[in-house]
Amino acid sequence: MRYIACLFLCFYLAVTLSADDLVITEKSFSCLLDLPKVRNTRIQNPDPEKLKEAIRIFTDSLPDKEYPKGTVLQLVPTEAMVKHDRAAFPNTNGWELFALKVTPVGTTIMDRGDKVLNTSLKKPCLDCHSPAVKFDYVCEKGHGCAPIPVTDEQIAAIQAADPRCKK
Ligand code: HEC
Repeated sequence: MRYIACLFLCFYLAVTLSADDLVITEKSFSCLLDLPKVRNTRIQNPDPEKLKEAIRIFTDSLPDKEYPKGTVLQLVPTEAMVKHDRAAFPNTNGWELFALKVTPVGTTIMDRGDKVLNTSLKKPCLDCHSPAVKFDYVCEKGHGCAPIPVTDEQIAAIQAADPRCKK
């Protein structure tokens, strides 16, 4: 009897413990200007300690480090990378990629997963981000990614024009 009870309980525990409990919805994204910025990138994590750790890894360009679960990185309002458990997205060490649409009313998720395309460049996100695997897929500059045809000033202007920010 006890064996049967364990069978069920252990199965239940195994399923719940391995399930990816990070829930990302359209409400997870908002005005980029409200988020801490390191060089070009906006960084968020609901847990202040994990946010500090993510900012440290990003700022120091530390190789062979994993961004803490829950970290959201954004260069522009219409794209994001969100860190889950590795098991949830094994091809990308846990990163889920997002293509977003933003309006003054909020955010719409157009595509998500590990096979998302960048719509203006018509290229899969990972075509560019995969060479930066040593930096947990973070491109920045000098991590081996193909460059994007946008200057730092243009990125700052795109962020400043985020329609979700209250004027
Ligand atoms: C043409 C190559 C290319 C494609 C395609 C691309 N990226 Fe990037 N991405 C880059 C480069 C290069 C940077 C670094 C820009 C900088 O800070 O100078 C970057 C930066 C980022 C950042 C900021 C963190 C980092 O890695 O530096 C995020 C988040 C991001 N991209 C998400 C995406 C998503 C999501 C997609 C697909 C919808 C995508 N990218 C498609 C090249 C690309």
